[in-house]
Amino acid sequence: MSTSILSSADEATISKVCETYSLKPTQFHALHSRSAAAKATAYCPYSRFRVGCSILTENDQHIDGANVENAAYPVGTCAERVAFGKAVTEGHRKFKAVAVATDISPPASPCGMCRQFIREFCELQTPIFMFDKDGNFVVMRLEQLLPLSFGPEALPPPGSLPARG
Ligand code: THU
Repeated sequence: MSTSILSSADEATISKVCETYSLKPTQFHALHSRSAAAKATAYCPYSRFRVGCSILTENDQHIDGANVENAAYPVGTCAERVAFGKAVTEGHRKFKAVAVATDISPPASPCGMCRQFIREFCELQTPIFMFDKDGNFVVMRLEQLLPLSFGPEALPPPGSLPARG
């Protein structure tokens, strides 16, 4: 498992990373630019901590989101859950990659709640790219960010539950 910080400007590194995670370099660059651009859509007057997220669907569409805060602080929602909420309500169920961008360095990683939220919809091998303010990044698979995770397959299939009166 590698957690070293890589540069998105280094094309040789990008092509290696893309090979490892079965992505095209154009998809990687779109994940980077779209997650970075999504930061501008954040509503974060309380923390001033902008987070952008871009997810790549199985049919190569990008769905973007940003954090949306609330005067009642715990009600605020992270960028990852906004993006996945959009994607799922638009009918997407399978995803190839997730990208998260912040204005800090080293890059921030998805919070615990978002890791679990992502776990519902992504395979454990799904790459999660974490970009810093300069486009440097760390990439890890979901199973590295959320080991020994609990997921939908642990529950009995919905149709197998007895009807409740
Ligand atoms: N935040 C995200 O959007 N994603 C994360 O995974 C970590 C935190 C947001 C929530 C809040 O709006 C701000 O960052 C500061 O915590």
